[in-house]
Amino acid sequence: MEVIRIEGGHPVTGEVTVEGAKNSALKLMAATLLAPGVTTLENVPNIADVHVMGKVLKELGATVEVVDEHTLRIDTSSVDSWETPYSLVAQMRASTAVLGPLLARFGKAIVAMPGGCNIGARKIDMHILGLQALGVQFDMDHGDIHASAPNGLKGATVTLDFASVGATENLIMASVHADGVTVIDNAAREPEIVDLANMLNEMGADIQGAGTPVIEIHGVGELHPVTHAVVGDRIEAGTFVAIGALVGQPVTVRGFDPQHLGLVLRKYEQMGVTIERGRREVTVSRTAPLMPTDIQTLPFPGFPTDMQAQTMCLLALAQGTCIVTENVFENRFMFASELQRMGSDIVIQGHHAVVHGVERLSGAEVRSPDLRGGAALIMAGLVADGTTTVSDIYHVDRGYERFVEKLCALGAQVRRVNMLDPSADEFAMRVR
Ligand code: EPZ
Repeated sequence: MEVIRIEGGHPVTGEVTVEGAKNSALKLMAATLLAPGVTTLENVPNIADVHVMGKVLKELGATVEVVDEHTLRIDTSSVDSWETPYSLVAQMRASTAVLGPLLARFGKAIVAMPGGCNIGARKIDMHILGLQALGVQFDMDHGDIHASAPNGLKGATVTLDFASVGATENLIMASVHADGVTVIDNAAREPEIVDLANMLNEMGADIQGAGTPVIEIHGVGELHPVTHAVVGDRIEAGTFVAIGALVGQPVTVRGFDPQHLGLVLRKYEQMGVTIERGRREVTVSRTAPLMPTDIQTLPFPGFPTDMQAQTMCLLALAQGTCIVTENVFENRFMFASELQRMGSDIVIQGHHAVVHGVERLSGAEVRSPDLRGGAALIMAGLVADGTTTVSDIYHVDRGYERFVEKLCALGAQVRRVNMLDPSADEFAMRVR
């Protein structure tokens, strides 16, 4: 069992380059099912979730070659199955991103119904309703979704109740060959949706309006494989921006488009953080005390829910009180509960968190509740008095490549420790 141990109070400054976006790479991998042949994906993050998606594609009959740490060559010519087992969907609910491509390629799919996770029920009712509008029939059988389009997929207009990222992606991928035009209204506008539409159009699809609330997909014939580089990860970048804002010394974050973090950067400037924007990087610093500001998470271009925990960490040390409202997931304040152990003063009231800033945090043993909460606890440990030990770090490894190494390169005193062999932790030995 591994933990991440952080000794607080050390300077953290320098430069870090982020990887390709997890929340794009997984869908681009699924989309290779739409173009029989060899698609090469570049700038792919080397993280656990990508490895699971690779297993899903292999299970379907594809070959996935790791060309180098960040390049995958995926051959879907011989994909002959349309069934994704529960064992893989249970490991990663994003496996449901193969539903749309399998329907487009085979006119049918069997995908295990994803379970919930720590942050919420994570239903897929909007995916199902939208696909039904395209002519897909669904049966549930022993936890599996049996989807089929006996008369083929027909273009239709679908208005989403909520700008769901996953539903938008599955509808785009399902409709690339549909007969006629599909319109997705109230579509998600995330940069990862634009990245997916860009790659599909490079493959020969005809998708207009990605990045706006109305996306139009004109059904076309066969798509052809391509080489495509994954868009930079705005949330990994945002996590390091938050770290720079927290510690104060200059931190330069490279490898992403600052426009993909527009509102986050503006909110941080309201909190007293200095942000220098480049074309593919930002430099963050702070000399003034952190000031409170209210946060409301919303679909892009609103404040990203995936930056809520990292920002809550900043607000926990701000000079005043503010309210954080989580509008996207129903249970995404567990990070705040863990942060109480480190001395924060946060009151949770439904989907609001009232954050009273405190002078300092103290190191403690805490558990990572989910991917972003885990990263935020590690971040808190950088400035807490003493040592912080974060467990359940498998959550963090799902979405952050070499997080400990990147923090150490910035000067942080952070170690990954195998609790079954504590002697390996020279860091703890020194701390005692
Ligand atoms: C994607 O999840 C991301 N995951 C999430 O990132 C991100 O937080 C989320 O989008 C919002 O930006 C991946 O891309 C792999 P949604 P997704 O469909 O597609 C509800 C991270 O930390 N909903 O926009 O599942 C749903 O339960 C992860 O990297 C339905 O009720 O998000 C949620 O409350 C966490 N029915 C809300 O909508 C549906 O059919 C938003 O979900 C679909 C969604």
